[in-house]
Amino acid sequence: MGDGLLASSGEKWKKNRAIMESAFATRESSRNFIQIFTEQSRVLIEEIRDTRLGVACSLWPLIVKAVIQTVLEKIILDFLLKNNMTDEEINDEIMTLIFAGIDTTVTALCFTLLMLAKNQDIQEKVYEEINTVFSGDKNKSAEFSELTKLTFLDQCIRESLRKLSVVPAVERRVTNDVVLSDGRVVPTGSNLILSIYAIHNNPQYYPDPQVWNPYNFDKDKVAQRPNHTFIPFATGLRQCLGYKFAMMSMKVFISTILQNFKLTTDQTEFQLDYYLIVRCRNGYQIKFEER
Ligand code: HEM
Repeated sequence: MGDGLLASSGEKWKKNRAIMESAFATRESSRNFIQIFTEQSRVLIEEIRDTRLGVACSLWPLIVKAVIQTVLEKIILDFLLKNNMTDEEINDEIMTLIFAGIDTTVTALCFTLLMLAKNQDIQEKVYEEINTVFSGDKNKSAEFSELTKLTFLDQCIRESLRKLSVVPAVERRVTNDVVLSDGRVVPTGSNLILSIYAIHNNPQYYPDPQVWNPYNFDKDKVAQRPNHTFIPFATGLRQCLGYKFAMMSMKVFISTILQNFKLTTDQTEFQLDYYLIVRCRNGYQIKFEER
C-alpha cells in the first residue's frame, strides 16, 4: 500500500485525503457509484440464476467478484481518467482502496445475507420494504433517494457491522494530552489502541450483544445510547473514506438479490476470528431460490 491514505500522516495525508474526499463525497460521484452498483448487482443476479440456483453454495467467491468490480470501476473513474497526483501517489492510493475497500465490504455483505437467510421473518420484512420502495419493479434502477428509504435494511446492515466489528480495533497516536472522565490523563505521544469490538459488544449499550438483532437500531434505541457507541468506520478525521460508498453498495446488492431470490441456509456455526479484519471461519453457505 506504500504511503497511501491508511498509512500516511501529516501534510501528505491532509492533501491526499482532500483530493480523495472530493472523489468520494460529491453528488455526482454518488450517482456514478449507484449506477456501477446496479450494473454489477445485475451481473451477479444472472450468475446466480445461471449457476447457483437451488443448491447450497459458498457466497464469498460470488460477492468478492462483484465488489472488486465496483471498487475497480470507481478507481478507474477517479484516478486513471482525471487525477492530480504523481504516479507513485496514484499507485499507493489504488492499493489502499483495494486493501481497505474490498475485504471489509465483502465480509459485511456476506454476513448480512447469511443473517437474513437465517432469520426468515426479518428477511420477509426487508423484502416487503424493498417492494414498497421500488413499487414491486425488479428492473427499476435504484436512486439515491430510494436507498435512503430502505430504513429497515439499513438497520440490518448496521447490526451486522456492530456484531462483526469488521475492523475490530484502530490505533491512534495522541497529539495532545487527553483527560478522561475519571481524571486520568493519556499523555501526548502515547499510542492508543481503540477496541471497536469492545464498544460494540458492551452489554450496557447492547443487551445480548452476541445475538444479531436489527431492532437494536430502532430509532428510540439509538436515541438512548451515547454518541460513538457505534463506530464500525471509526470516527474523527481518520474516519473511513469509503463509508457511504460501502453502505450504498451493500444496499443496492442486498435489495437486488432479495427482489429476485429467497435465501435460506442450513449453516449453524458462525465462528468469528479476529485479525486486522474479522473472518467467519465457517464461511457463508446460502441457498438461492427464485421468488
Ligand atoms: C464495511 C466496509 C468498511 C468498513 C467496516 C471500513 C472500516 C474502516 C475503518 C475502521 C477505518 C479506520 C482505519 C484506521 O484508522 O486504522 C477505515 C479507513 C479507511 N477506509 Fe474503510 N471501511 C469499509 C469500506 C471501505 C471502502 C469501500 C473504501 C473505499 C473504496 C474504504 C476506504 C478507506 C480508506 C481510504 C481509509 C483510510 C482513511 C484515512 O486514514 O484517511 N473503506 N475504514
